[in-house]
Amino acid sequence: MNFPTKAMIKEVGPRDGLQNENRFIKTEDKIAWINQLSDSGLSYIEVSSFVNPKWIPALADALDVAKGITRREGVTYAALVPNQKGLERALEAKIDEVSVFMSASETHNQKNINKSIEETLPILKDVVTDGIKAGKTTRGYISTVFGCPYENVVDVEQVVRVSEQLFEIGIDELSLGDTIGVANPSQVQDVLDVLLKRFPADKLAMHFHDTRGTAMANIVASLDMGITTFDSSIGGLGGCPYAPGASGNLATDDLVYMLDGMGITTGVDLEKLMSAARFIEGKMGKSLPSHHLQVAAEKGCS
Ligand code: HMG
Ligand code: MG
Repeated sequence: MNFPTKAMIKEVGPRDGLQNENRFIKTEDKIAWINQLSDSGLSYIEVSSFVNPKWIPALADALDVAKGITRREGVTYAALVPNQKGLERALEAKIDEVSVFMSASETHNQKNINKSIEETLPILKDVVTDGIKAGKTTRGYISTVFGCPYENVVDVEQVVRVSEQLFEIGIDELSLGDTIGVANPSQVQDVLDVLLKRFPADKLAMHFHDTRGTAMANIVASLDMGITTFDSSIGGLGGCPYAPGASGNLATDDLVYMLDGMGITTGVDLEKLMSAARFIEGKMGKSLPSHHLQVAAEKGCS
């Protein structure tokens, strides 16, 4: 297999990790946690989401969180932005990167953002155009790339179409979401085989949820295909509220452990990351699914 010497980890825990949780983490705790994540060497943190707070109450304090964190030089602080109203709030919060999102499958798009794919694209185009005008970098997410909770199979040509449309409206990078954690390494290779004929590997990121325990294997398959950017969530927190059964993202701590062992540099200090994982675990009041956290707990590590 072919492996790179470096990989970029994009921490989505403060957004994807918390958005599906019933427990509201206090704003001051979110801020303290994000500051710990910044200190761990992560260079990209998705801090919150400027969606309708009625839909995602766990992140209703996005503006206060983004305003309250200590900005570390060299770290990109990103957030989800669904529309112009979200963009106004994101600009007020001085977010560095604006991330728009939609689905490859029509039904998930409708359930998640209350619009058809066709209705969504012009809205995202305005957000990306105005985000760029305001000096922001931009990211696009496509959900349900490997399977949809409502439609099951998603045609790769539909993924290609939506990817092309998102690059056409001006996004800098595209994150491919296995929203419900159904992908396997062969499927990842098949999908990437098609996409990499149209888009360069350094414009793509992979976003695996670990619902069925295949996320790490999917990372290895993606690395072998030349992908070097991965979204993950500390402790394995996470899920999409509009994708029944979706569980957490691949755990950042497990990912860093594996990449470290493979000699693939991430710039992240695993010990500092673990402190941040234990901090949020304490605030959540429940054990988080990451393997590395469990090993550390059994060993009685501090
Ligand atoms: P809507 O409710 O359909 O919107 O929202 P609307 O445009 O008809 O407006 C209705 C009300 O919402 C109005 O208020 C608006 O002002 C308000 P009212 O007049 O009733 O008082 N509103 C807003 N308020 C604050 N901020 C905003 C905003 N927009 C409208 N930005 C919208 C459309 C997309 C906003 C809504 O459907 C929504 O918030 N959905 C949440 C979707 C979401 O956050 N899903 C989870 C994230 S995606 C994900 O997890 C997948 C990913 O991780 C990748 C993967 O795993 O595949 C990225
Ligand atoms: Mg997700």
